[in-house]
Amino acid sequence: MCGIMGYTGYRQALPLLLEGLKRLEYRGYDSAGVAVLEEGSLFLQKKAGKIAVLEACLNGFCPSGKAGIGHTRWATHGAPCDHNAHPHLDCRGEVAVVHNGIIENYASLRAELVKRGHRFLSETDTEVIPHLLEEAYEGDLLSTLRKVLPRLHGSYALAALSVREPGRLVVARRDSPLVLGLGEGENFLASDIPALLPYTRRTYILEDGELAEIWPDGIKVYDAAGRPLEKKVFHVKWDAAAAEKAPYPHFMLKEIHEQPRALRDTLRGRIEGGRVVFPELEEAAFHLRECRRLFLTACGTAFHAGLVGKYLLEKLARLPVEADIASEFRYRDLTLGPGDVVLVISQSGETADTLAALRLAKEKGAKVLAITNVVGSSVAREADWVLYTWAGPEIAVASTKAYTAQVLLVTLLALYLAELRGTLPSEEIIPLVEEVKFLPERVAQVLAWEEEIARLAQALKEQEHFFFIGRGLDWAVAEEGALKLKEISYIHAEAYPAGELKHGTLALITEGVPVVALATQSHLFEKMLSNIKEVKARGAWVLALTADDQAVAGETDVCFHLPPGNPLLMPAVAVVPLQLLAYYVAVARGCDVDQPRNLAKSVTVE
Ligand code: F6R
Repeated sequence: MCGIMGYTGYRQALPLLLEGLKRLEYRGYDSAGVAVLEEGSLFLQKKAGKIAVLEACLNGFCPSGKAGIGHTRWATHGAPCDHNAHPHLDCRGEVAVVHNGIIENYASLRAELVKRGHRFLSETDTEVIPHLLEEAYEGDLLSTLRKVLPRLHGSYALAALSVREPGRLVVARRDSPLVLGLGEGENFLASDIPALLPYTRRTYILEDGELAEIWPDGIKVYDAAGRPLEKKVFHVKWDAAAAEKAPYPHFMLKEIHEQPRALRDTLRGRIEGGRVVFPELEEAAFHLRECRRLFLTACGTAFHAGLVGKYLLEKLARLPVEADIASEFRYRDLTLGPGDVVLVISQSGETADTLAALRLAKEKGAKVLAITNVVGSSVAREADWVLYTWAGPEIAVASTKAYTAQVLLVTLLALYLAELRGTLPSEEIIPLVEEVKFLPERVAQVLAWEEEIARLAQALKEQEHFFFIGRGLDWAVAEEGALKLKEISYIHAEAYPAGELKHGTLALITEGVPVVALATQSHLFEKMLSNIKEVKARGAWVLALTADDQAVAGETDVCFHLPPGNPLLMPAVAVVPLQLLAYYVAVARGCDVDQPRNLAKSVTVE
């Protein structure tokens, strides 16, 4: 979490820092701050709240300095208030630091520094860094940073500057993302690529353990021992519009509408002659054919895509799948070892728990296959094999297009493994593979329900509780529908396997309680109908999503008919009306859709 931005060049730094921070605001919006190098002094301004609050406080003032760093915060250590906002300074006010990550041993470092007379102004873990730099400083900020880093336990992407070294920024990274942008007579640093897009597409992706010094006329990267490194330039292919929300009012709505395109891009080159082809998995084929079970791990929405994968991999590839939320996977005493394969799913490729689960799996000798949306992310770099979703940058905190692209990839993976492992005859695989090609079109059809869903959302906006029910694959989608609604509209929403309601939760179904019932799985249809009747009998208001079955329509208050198709391919389509419902309910309630309270995209802390 948190976003950092830095600039050094020929322009006034402040406007570029603010613009970059706005593009990183999805990473945290509890406070924002900037430090700009002025002649022999530092200009510092920081405020609790969003970047707009910081801007209001600056009130049009712009320091002349041409180098600076900035930060947008998702609070971990210390409340979201002005004094805990970054940048943090040393006692002399000469060194400023911004940091994304957690310094786990900050308490003991701080106690030590206090004993030696340092005065702290915040409750953050980060503040120990400028003080350590101050003590170790001998005229060169980069070598000082190299000396200090071994003292820091935990994760960091950090940037520092000193009034004694005009024009120079120094950075280091461990377990938190950091990208350097290469300009002409100016250079940049940022937590993520969208912040750099207005200025450059030429980047260096910093690796763990690397440090860099950034000057207006060049960037030098070093390893932890101080040896210079030859970095490869990573050319960003996204166009600048990929990181703009216009003409949509929110990134989330834009990203919901981008799903047909995201699915088409993720499909491209992966189906040939009725078969799924994954050249990326050539070396993995042996392991995937021989493994006796698959572990699957992820967080949040990515985990929900994984649940869809579990059903499909078991059904099509006859591969037992153990699915575990990454923060649980890490601390379970797993019977995991050589011969096992772990499937890791992460949009950002930086989620701390998912990354730790990946590392644990490798430590135990298992092979890791990753599905991620971000090229060069930690998950992509550390996994044995990677399948990319080509959803494009996802900026809204609530994941939408990344989810459908993940669902598509796990579907393709199940079909690929069904052939590889010989669990399905080609007469059964080919029609399914051919049908997958229609998913972008089906999603586009469902998007056309937008206005109707918006009207429905108006009617539902005062509700405080929602239940989502389904069986099999529908339950996996129900989990995602409930998460979308609660995270952006703050309505309490729970998802249940429909058959489980009567074992307790049915007690909560009373007159008018909204229940969203998914009934797209034909073999479970009769059972689902009984569950719908159960909740109706208790007075629930039922919204059903079904695949062309009139019987459900008669039992429900509102019924949407999804485009017909194989039930195994329903999740990527069925989730779309649920995303729209969550979006429009949140808008109707006046919520901050793209930046819901307490959340941030890319959870790089445990
Ligand atoms: C919810 C959402 C989160 C993420 C989760 C994992 O809309 O986006 O639940 O899915 O934080 O993030 P990634 O996929 O980046 O590992």
